[in-house]
Amino acid sequence: MITKRPLRLGVNIDHVATIRNARGGRHPDPVRAARLAAQAGADGITAHLREDRRHIGDEDIARLVHEIDLPLNLEMAATPEMLGIALRHKPHAACVVPEKRTEVTTEGGLDVVAGAAQLEPVIAALAGAGIRVSLFIDPEKRQLDMAKRLGAPVVELHTGAYCEAEGTRRGFELERIVTAAAHAEALGLECHAGHGLGFETVAPVAAIPTIVELNIGHFLVGEAIFGGLDSAIKRMRALMQEARAAALGEKSA
Ligand code: PXP
Repeated sequence: MITKRPLRLGVNIDHVATIRNARGGRHPDPVRAARLAAQAGADGITAHLREDRRHIGDEDIARLVHEIDLPLNLEMAATPEMLGIALRHKPHAACVVPEKRTEVTTEGGLDVVAGAAQLEPVIAALAGAGIRVSLFIDPEKRQLDMAKRLGAPVVELHTGAYCEAEGTRRGFELERIVTAAAHAEALGLECHAGHGLGFETVAPVAAIPTIVELNIGHFLVGEAIFGGLDSAIKRMRALMQEARAAALGEKSA
């Protein structure tokens, strides 16, 4: 039986830092954006500290941990450097992601099957420090099975292929997410999803009742240019809540 679970919104503020870094200096400040996201109803803040520091920097992470009341989800590659940073700052959660220097964004999920030996000690070290570990994976059964074997309590399903797909392909990609979320549930894994979600793509994912968190960034920061971050986050939350309520046969508030 699927129980009613709240759906959280994690706001990824990386691209506020992208704009700041285009000129250097301190404006716009991603920590100010995180504060605003909290006021607009975000349940958490997500930030990806990349090896090349192209957007979020080390000082941003320190400030997000100390100045923001919401839980921080630190996206990180499974490298010794990032592990050291995570253990120093102890964010609420760490989402382990693949990282290539040449990619524009996180292009696919982490291959936890191929990378099991490298991931196992990183997951154990993060978990040992009380950090909730999630693995960002493609919606594939074998990736979920390995995530479970490696002891990660959470998986985040990559929704990029679904968001980019057109026509009938989108339904196919959505079905892969639905199937993977059901498999995560059967394995006892907490299931999150994210990447590429926007107003037009969020509802079918939010309707999957066992997904408990969506992490959304680029679209919200882009939309903020036109109507403000507050209004973009509020609209996203409303769409998520309406879709979840409709899927559970409820009236949304
Ligand atoms: N979840 C993870 C693990 C990610 O790496 C990203 C992108 O940094 C997101 C969610 C958010 O993706 P987007 O910025 O496309 O909304």
